[in-house]
Amino acid sequence: MTFPEGFLWGGALAANQCEGAYLEDGKGLSQQDVMPQGVRGPVTDQPTPDNLKLIGTDFYHRYREDIALMAEMGFKVFRFSIAWSRIYPRGDEAEPNEVGLAFYDRVIDECLKYGIEPLITLSHYEIPLHLCRTYDGFRSRKTIDFFLRYADTVLRRYHDRVKYWLTFNEINVTLISPLLGAGVMTPKDQLSAQDRFQTAHHQLVASARATALAKQICPEIQIGCMAASAPRYPMTCDPQDMIAMMTSQQELDYFIHVHCTGEYPYYAKRLWRENNVCLEITEEDRQALKQTVDFISFSYYSSKVVAADESRYTMANGNIMRGLKNPYVPVSDYDYPIDPEGLRYILNYLYAHFHKPLFVAENGLGARDVLIAEEHGGFTVKDQGRIDFHRGHIQAMARAIDDGVEVFGYTSWGPIDCVSAASAEMTKRYGFVYVDRNQDGSGTLQRWKKQSFDWIGKVYRSNGADLD
Ligand code: BG6
Repeated sequence: MTFPEGFLWGGALAANQCEGAYLEDGKGLSQQDVMPQGVRGPVTDQPTPDNLKLIGTDFYHRYREDIALMAEMGFKVFRFSIAWSRIYPRGDEAEPNEVGLAFYDRVIDECLKYGIEPLITLSHYEIPLHLCRTYDGFRSRKTIDFFLRYADTVLRRYHDRVKYWLTFNEINVTLISPLLGAGVMTPKDQLSAQDRFQTAHHQLVASARATALAKQICPEIQIGCMAASAPRYPMTCDPQDMIAMMTSQQELDYFIHVHCTGEYPYYAKRLWRENNVCLEITEEDRQALKQTVDFISFSYYSSKVVAADESRYTMANGNIMRGLKNPYVPVSDYDYPIDPEGLRYILNYLYAHFHKPLFVAENGLGARDVLIAEEHGGFTVKDQGRIDFHRGHIQAMARAIDDGVEVFGYTSWGPIDCVSAASAEMTKRYGFVYVDRNQDGSGTLQRWKKQSFDWIGKVYRSNGADLD
């Protein structure tokens, strides 16, 4: 199995899940600071001490140590996000927070010191709380302009050192969790489909305009979209299940289609009609959307099974997007389906439909790791399951490349443990490096290499050739 020369191997983190320092050096609050239980719990008025993200895994102070560990694992790329609320604490200031900008200068320079390519997500589930409270996040068109001001600031500041950028993390999640994806504070059960689709439209316009801006600032920048890409499988070959699969898949494709072709797909009309949606799309919006991306990036954790009549089946466990139980695939500690072949499938699917280079921006196994003492002192985690998970997915990616798909990078999710997004917990860990932080907030924050640490280093350094 051979990967193309220069293939970008690495890992991905998000500011709100690892940085901590939630009020340090002028940072403002974001919606994450008032979501102590992630999308699964209530929003609080103020940050509360049970919110693990306030300290995160202290990347803000420990980025040097963490990036050194990444270099030791042979990273060629580190995908991270900038906390918008560190740059524009309220979101609507005229001038950015210089101390916040300087922090990312240091992170970027630290990556470059090791020959690690930084890949920046402009917005990863993190929007200044003031914009969320005042404008309901991207539910308001006004937020597009604030986002562009922020994007302009960071693109101008870092473009000479950062070639790869993504606009919104998992942009399609806005339809499922408008709070997480778009900073909409109005509870989801009070939002109509019209509200959710219009919010998503504002983000699509913001994404296209940020892409145009990036190209204007530096034509060499490569900028991509990012979508949560669980491929849909039909439960049976019943034609009705096939149609259910097709329409569910279209809800994902909808977002990628706009980014890749510059307009809404033909089936959007049906989707809007069925949901009683009448989008407000201005002529200016239409022109803006014409700006397409250079590549598609996506997260892949597992496939999702659907059926015309889902009440006949059992639901599988899962994060934000759950499907039906698939009897053919094993499950993780968290009872989430594990399906490496689905990665080969979605890579082929996306390439066949959109003909753009692909980047696997997230993939990983969330597990309840157990820290064990080592003979010579120190601690580790025996995480053979994680090794098997990544081996299976990297092999599937290699087969997709062999199929002819153009894939240029793979960043595992949470290479150094971080707080989870959906449930804001510390117990579910994805890393090759264990962070000593417990669910009750205790812990030294010390980093310990897991068994998978050496394994992934070997894989990355051999450009995916040594998977034993
Ligand atoms: C993706 C997100 O959906 O999944 C990440 O982009 C998130 O932010 C990851 O952490 C894993 O999900 P979770 O909820 O287990 O952390």
